[in-house]
This record gives sequence, C-alpha cells and structure tokens, in this order.
Amino acid sequence: MLFMVDSADLNGIRKCAEFFPIAGVTTNPTIVSSAKTDFKKLLLEIREIIGDDKMLHVQVTSGDAEDMVREAEMLRDFVGGEFYVKIPITEQGLKAIQMCKAEGIGVTTTAIFTQQQALMAARAGADFVAPYVNRMDNLLSDGVHVVEEIVQLFKHQNLDTKILAASFKTCEQVHKIAMSGAHSVTINPELFSSLIYHPMTMYSLDAFDCDWAEVYGNKKVLDILSE
Ligand code: E4P
Repeated sequence: MLFMVDSADLNGIRKCAEFFPIAGVTTNPTIVSSAKTDFKKLLLEIREIIGDDKMLHVQVTSGDAEDMVREAEMLRDFVGGEFYVKIPITEQGLKAIQMCKAEGIGVTTTAIFTQQQALMAARAGADFVAPYVNRMDNLLSDGVHVVEEIVQLFKHQNLDTKILAASFKTCEQVHKIAMSGAHSVTINPELFSSLIYHPMTMYSLDAFDCDWAEVYGNKKVLDILSE
C-alpha cells in the first residue's frame, strides 16, 4: 500500500518527504484554504519539495463539467510532473472525468461515500477513487467495510481504477484499510508519525543506549570506527 500526504502545510510535507517513503501529496479546497497563502505559489512549493516523480493531487472548484476540464488542463500545465486532478463524484463530475481521460489527464474522483459512486467513477475512467473513511465512520456508516467492498467490486469487474482511501483519524483505520487490499492511503503528517510510534520501541532504544554507554561511554560506532 502506498502512502500519500494529505496536507498543504509545507513544513509537514517537507518532513514527510524527508523521512517517510511517500508516493505523493493530496490536497482539497479545505486543506489549501487552511494554508492561507497564495494558491499558485503553494502548488509550486509543494512540487519543488516532492519533485516531479511523486504524485500531486489537486481538486477543481468549478461545478460545471466544461469548467472543471478547463481547470484540470490549467492545473496540469501549471503544476507539471505526476499530476492528478481531483474531481468530485457528481453528474457534472462524471462528464468531466470522461473528458479529462480523453485528453490523457490523470483523474482522482473524490468525496466517495458509497460503493456505487466508486463503481460509476471507475467506469467513467478515473485512475483513483478516494473514499472518505473517517467521515463515513462519523455518519454511522462503516468506512472500512465500504472500502473492502470497493476492492472486491473492482476485482470482480477487472477494473484498473485504484483506491486512494482518504479521511483518517486513527492508526487502526489505516491498518484496516491496508488489510483490505486498497492501493493507497492519504494521511496527515501527524498520523505518519503516530503510525511508527510505539512506547516499547522507545524503551528498547533507551536500553540499548544504557548498555552501550556502560562499556563505550559517549563514543558512537562512527567514532570508534574512525579512530
Ligand atoms: C482527501 O483527499 C480528502 O479530501 C481528505 O482526506 C478528507 O479528510 P478529512 O475528512 O479529515 O477532512
């Protein structure tokens, strides 16, 4: 399963790009607005941090298919590199997805809450569908179950569309989605750190340090081998 960063916070993206094996960055209008900065500058800065090879998913804000496609073309040309336009699952969105795919633009269908929305987006040619796991859980739906069924649907129908599960609040949600066979998740920078944190890991490292120091003092492996 691939990991993407769901953020427009440049420090958070920079940290994830430096330390974690990320496949790209996803944004949405809320995430971008929270950065409270120049939109074009922000996109270029994100691209500079992650490079051209990693995916950058950016959402359109128009509601009409023709305008969505125009935004998609302009975003693709402006952002460059591995680019995916995020288009919401509406009737106009489905029309726009098919038009974008006819032009060879990468598409992620977003705001997915049901299996049938995902199937329709896949049939329209979307490269990714983004089901909102935590938002489903908050609505007394079962986000993991919905994703599991989308995985099955795509398998049974030989669809190449990939599942980019989104909207996460807990490590457990991420783990269950990994077990479902989904292709990728997009998570915020804080959740990246939580996913690798365990108190016993920290305890074990402290014990290694103490045992080592009793014999070798402050010297590290590097110091001893350099002597
Ligand atoms: C990603 O593409 C989604 O827009 C995002 O993950 C939604 O997350 P939220 O439910 O935490 O706002």
